[in-house]
Formats: sequence, structure tokens, C-alpha cells
Amino acid sequence: MTEGELLDVSPLWPADLDHLRIDSPDPRALAGFYERALGTSISPLGRDLYLVEGRQRRLVIGRGEARSHPWSAFALEDDAQLERYRRFVAARGAEPLPAPSPLFARGGFALRDPDGRLAVFGVAGAERAAPPGLPGRLQHVVVASERFPAMMSFYRDKLGFLVSDTVHVDDGSGGLGDVNVCFLRGNLDHHSFAVFRAPKSASDHFALEVTGWDDIRRWADHFAALDIGIWWGPGRHGAGNNLFFMVKDPDGNNVEISADLERLPKGAPGRRWPAGGKALNLWGPAWVRDTPG
Ligand SMILES: [Fe+2]
Repeated sequence: MTEGELLDVSPLWPADLDHLRIDSPDPRALAGFYERALGTSISPLGRDLYLVEGRQRRLVIGRGEARSHPWSAFALEDDAQLERYRRFVAARGAEPLPAPSPLFARGGFALRDPDGRLAVFGVAGAERAAPPGLPGRLQHVVVASERFPAMMSFYRDKLGFLVSDTVHVDDGSGGLGDVNVCFLRGNLDHHSFAVFRAPKSASDHFALEVTGWDDIRRWADHFAALDIGIWWGPGRHGAGNNLFFMVKDPDGNNVEISADLERLPKGAPGRRWPAGGKALNLWGPAWVRDTPG
């Protein structure tokens, strides 16, 4: 199926990243970090399972290996869209599994991707009151994969995400060769999910989208007051054109603060970038995932 044909049939629009689960050997301590760092409150969801929730952002934190990321959850508009989407993925051979998230209303489902991670789809339910705090909407999540071609194909062809930009290795003669990064979207945001080719499958980062450059400064000052140092950025991604910086939580998860992410309507073509830096950072060094070490 071509991208154009997929556009006509994919019911995965709009779909917003709503929350994700990350695990930690000490989930209560990690939840405590996010309470301070992201201004979230903590509520227990079960044994060793916590909801951290703040202004337009929520995460589920459970017990597991450090930096494991068992699932990401995307919200569709209503039950009718969810049912259309269930039929769409079933027709493409994906097997809907029970949704593991306690945050979606009844009726959600999940699909297991080639790396074993679940993509969860459901209806978010009633609009939640926005607590005070710095603006920062949970907006995208990214994974690194040793099964990159299968992952790209799964999210595009089976799940119906639309491809925004791609990054390509050199084909040996200065042209664009194989894809090693794929940015995917289910709404106007340039990407709500992306996959990087890597020697080992792993979580990569998640991002909060803020309202502009001034919020980038406010978040950096906030992290500085907590002795949380920036490890990459500030910079501007080529793909997506967003301003960004990144910090790490105590387990090593990467948290991105982003602003001015490009908006790309349904049907708008993305760009094809050569590997080598500009796609990932127009201002300075890139963070390279596809080489060992
Ligand atoms: Fe990002």
C-alpha cells in the first residue's frame, strides 16, 4: 500500500500520545523524581505501580528493569473511531490484545510490535482539570530498535501511522541510502512516535512540548534549581524543526523539552534527510544511535 492509499483508509487520525509506562527497580523513587522535576502529583495505581500526573502530562511508573518501557498509549477521539481502528488493524493481520493501561476507559486494545513493546489505543475519557505548573504537554515518544525495518513497517503499514521525515544513510555514492530514522504521526504534530536504527533495542526518550522559547528557558532554570543538568542541547532538530534540550532521570531515561514542533497536515509530504547531523541538530552535535558504544 502506498502512502497515498494509506491516507485514504487509515482511521488513526487524530491520535494523540496520552501516556506511557516506564519501569524502574525503585518505582516509588522514580515517581518522586518526576514529582519534583516535572511538577506532577503521585497516586498509587496498585502494588509497585504509580501514576504521576501534572499539567497535560502523565506517566505510569512500575517495577521492572531500569529504562524499560513496556508500552505507549495513544488516545483516539471516541468509541466510534476506536472501533474503526480496531477493524483496520485486524484487517492488516495485527492481533488486538487487552489494553494494559488502567487509565483508558473500557474498550481499549493493544498491539505488540516487533520489539515486544505494546502500542495501546483507547479513549482518554473526560478532559482533566489542568493542575498548575510549567506548560509541558506529553507529545512524543521515541524508541531505538535493532529490528528497524520491521518496526518502521509495523507502525506504518499495520498501525497506519503516517510517515513524516526520514533520515537515510549514505548509499555509497553520496546519495540517500537505507532509512535509519523514521518519524511518524497520527495528528498534525510532526511526530508523536519515532524509531531510530540502533545496535540494541531500547527506550530512547519522551518529550514534553511547551509553548515557546521562553518556556525552554523556564524549564532549564527549573532543572538547574534541582541540579538536573542538560546533557544535550539547547538545539534545533532539523526533522520537526523543534527547539529542544534533554535531561536524564536517575535511571538514565531521557526527557526532552521541546518547542515549536512543525505541524504537518494529513497528506503533506515529509522530508528526506541525509544522516550526519543536521537532521538531528541544526545548531550543533547530534546524538548518534546507530553505531555501537
Ligand atoms: Fe524528541
